[in-house]
Amino acid sequence: MSWMKTSKLISFRLPLAVCLLTSGLLYCFSFLIEHSFEKISIQHNVSELNSVIDSIERELVYYSPDENRDEFIQNLLLILTGHHRLFVYVIDDTGKIVYRTRGPNLAFAKTQIDFDAIIKNHSTAIWNQDKASYRVAASSVVIENGKKYTTIAAVGRDLYIEFIHRLHDGLGLLIGIACILALIGSFISIYFTQKPINRLIKKIEKINLKSLNYRIPTSLVPIKYVSLVKAFNHMLNRMEDVFQRQRNFTADIAHEMRTPITNLTTQTQIVLSNARSTNEYREILYSNLEEYEKMSQMISDMLFLAQADNRQLVPNLIDIDLHNMITMMCEYFEPLADEKNIVFNLEGNCSHIQGDKMMLGRAISNILSNAIRYTPENQIITITLSQVSEKRIRIIIANPGKKIDSKHLPHLFDRFYRVDESRHRNGNDSSGTGIGLAIVKSIVETHKGSIYAESDEQSTRFIISLPATI
Ligand SMILES: Nc1ncnc2c1ncn2[C@@H]1O[C@H](COP(=O)(O)OP(=O)(O)OP(=O)(O)O)[C@@H](O)[C@H]1O
Ligand SMILES: [Mg+2]
Repeated sequence: MSWMKTSKLISFRLPLAVCLLTSGLLYCFSFLIEHSFEKISIQHNVSELNSVIDSIERELVYYSPDENRDEFIQNLLLILTGHHRLFVYVIDDTGKIVYRTRGPNLAFAKTQIDFDAIIKNHSTAIWNQDKASYRVAASSVVIENGKKYTTIAAVGRDLYIEFIHRLHDGLGLLIGIACILALIGSFISIYFTQKPINRLIKKIEKINLKSLNYRIPTSLVPIKYVSLVKAFNHMLNRMEDVFQRQRNFTADIAHEMRTPITNLTTQTQIVLSNARSTNEYREILYSNLEEYEKMSQMISDMLFLAQADNRQLVPNLIDIDLHNMITMMCEYFEPLADEKNIVFNLEGNCSHIQGDKMMLGRAISNILSNAIRYTPENQIITITLSQVSEKRIRIIIANPGKKIDSKHLPHLFDRFYRVDESRHRNGNDSSGTGIGLAIVKSIVETHKGSIYAESDEQSTRFIISLPATI
């Protein structure tokens, strides 16, 4: 539901953001265009005004209007030919008008603009008159006879102003249209992007504990989402596996508990059916005690695994001399091994490691007791210690015996997994409950190590890799 809300929010916010971004960019773009156009037009006006003024001053110097007025006017007219909406006003130092073009009265401009400053700075000014706008420039020149002439020139800006207005309106319209198109475009693209996602969400929402085996078909989504669907299906695989194991685990516990309880009930019923001697009662109680011990062991193993699952196993780290520890364990198992005339052979050595002595002892003894159980008589169990690197050690426990099929190897560490299914649950004392190796794995992983098994015709090997320090 919250995804739906988020997606709705995105479908409105995103087009809005795209729209704002587009208009912002276009606005900057139009600002730049207008600005550069204004700059170019000013440069153009200024150079036109300067070139006309320069030419007029040259004629003033050459002809001296007082002496050759006709030639001067004739040349001045030639200078002005081809200059559209350009006006000039030439006066001498007494204020007498030497020449003025028809059009705006530039004498009036003299009263509004500080021409002295313009002449001094070689600058121009804007002059607005009768709803028209002009750029004006001025210059003074002193000719040979000592007379001073001032030339004022003005060029109309109306065309430029109109062009700018049109450009402004056009760009404004463009921004508006672009915004609407961006809005529509992003709505459409969001709609098409979200459509497969919404389809996916509907499928995912239907998955529950009963339909954990359902996998989303990759054909449901476009190619860009295929890896997402694959990853999701992968997660479903893992979840289904965990749930399946959980179910099997519960079923296995129930089964394992039922067998000893059934045995106890049957035995008790038989004993109660007739009067027995004290010795017979004692015998029965001893046999019951064995079942109780088995159950108690199994319950404590289960608790241990539950703690490991919940990451509650905190190893009590101390410095351990593995060679010494394993030697002592072999001595402990010697009487059991002697029954089958099995010998232990401890090879190699490694540095001390940091670990929990009780836990590691339990792990090694689980493997050793398995090894004794599955080794034929008169054989040798070999334990090899080696230093893989400065920070890593390896323990290999190898025992001769029947080869374990490779399909079983990855499952040996699963709870209640036994290779020979027929041997367990039939009350055969030599078979265990199938928890031993699961405990070994939990202990090794609690020590940040790893374990795996190999098996061939010669031997079955359990290979443990442990870090020297956790
Ligand atoms: N050294 C070995 N050689 C051959 N098979 C082995 C060896 N160790 C373990 N297995 C196989 O792996 C299975 C699982 O071992 P695990 O120690 O977990 O259970 P178990 O020995 O049957 O019972 P438990 O240890 O709980 O008393 C065993 O049932 C056995 O089939
Ligand atoms: Mg075992």
